[in-house]
Amino acid sequence: MVFDLKACARSNILALQPYRCARDDYKDDGNTTLLDANENAHGPSLSKVDDLASKGSESQLFRFDSLNRYPDPHQIELKQLLCHLRQSPSSPNPLTPANLFVGVGSDEAIDALIRCFCVPGVDRILICPPTYGMYTVASQINDVEVVKIPLDIEGDIPTFDIRPGVILEKLRNDSKIKLVYICSPGNPTGKLIPPSQIRQLLEFQWNGVVVLDEAYIDFAGEGKSLAHWVNDHPNLVVMQTLSKAFGMAGIRLGFAFAPTNIIRLLNNLKAPYNISSITSALAIQAVSKPGLEVMAVHRNLILEQRTRIVQELVRLQRIGKLRGGFDANFLLVEILNGPKDSGGVPDNISARRVYKELAETKGIVVRYRGDELGCEGCLRITVGTEDETTKLIKKLDEVFKEI
Ligand SMILES: Cc1ncc(COP(=O)(O)O)c(C=O)c1O
Repeated sequence: MVFDLKACARSNILALQPYRCARDDYKDDGNTTLLDANENAHGPSLSKVDDLASKGSESQLFRFDSLNRYPDPHQIELKQLLCHLRQSPSSPNPLTPANLFVGVGSDEAIDALIRCFCVPGVDRILICPPTYGMYTVASQINDVEVVKIPLDIEGDIPTFDIRPGVILEKLRNDSKIKLVYICSPGNPTGKLIPPSQIRQLLEFQWNGVVVLDEAYIDFAGEGKSLAHWVNDHPNLVVMQTLSKAFGMAGIRLGFAFAPTNIIRLLNNLKAPYNISSITSALAIQAVSKPGLEVMAVHRNLILEQRTRIVQELVRLQRIGKLRGGFDANFLLVEILNGPKDSGGVPDNISARRVYKELAETKGIVVRYRGDELGCEGCLRITVGTEDETTKLIKKLDEVFKEI
């Protein structure tokens, strides 16, 4: 069976008449009198709006005096910049704004895809644990069952690769699976999935969609994103976010690249003004040339500290192996129940204890991941600044002496 959007998406979504507003037809060019959307022409209720120096200055990041107006429902300028960011010079089918959905974090895209493709109580999604928790949360909210095909967790140091053969076998036997969520680089694994494995999934003929979550892709090295593949594969969606390498988690901006017919459905079902004007103005700054330069500097600092943590942590006697990959801004670290020279092994009781001590007595919060598949005795540690790394190593050493 080949992918057929009309037979795969929910029939009520295919038939959906999207909310339309006059701004779909007419843009605010600064000279137009806008009496279409029941806005307040007097401006925003901000007493300090002048202090914010908002009135018409070209150098302003954002005009606060325009907050009385609804934001652009289409976000074309932002989408164009995002296409430019992920365009591949070798790709014969360039990305265009029609390949993009923008949402309130990529969490909105995760949920929108489920609502688009999965009939509640009938259809299913497939995930590969250990993986990001929101795929399951969004499924549960939508009354959609989750099928689990774990990553490869065999061996002393798991590869945390996907197992395309097992996934495809499952898809062959379960026609109710509509979406396969693959996280690359994985959370909590920090492991980039080889493109050849993703290609294996895309070459399989089935009536469902492969969703590749690339939230951490900018930590994996130049040119690793597969976003430019979406115009070559009718059933590929690639999600990304400004929350990680771009350091903009607070504005809530995520996006999904996909073939234009899938994007049309996602845009039809979203709330018309889901992206606030402030968010889009800041997002545009972040993905314009000066913002990209700042991102590259910060990312390189994080990568330096990642290397440093790898080198310094393994010297500690109660730290075991670094599991998973080095493709994200965090590391998955084994905590041992005794010194490694005396045969200490990864252990959840020790990991929980270190997690608690770090937070309660040392002022450092990391993430306990020991209960996740293939993560026995593991903490997930985000890579911070140089000072934060210095503090982390020192405090971890102290905790190990105290417990
Ligand atoms: C793998 C993965 N995908 C998506 C997200 C959500 O990102 P956003 O902040 O864009 O909603 C996260 C956040 O931690 C994540 O780890």
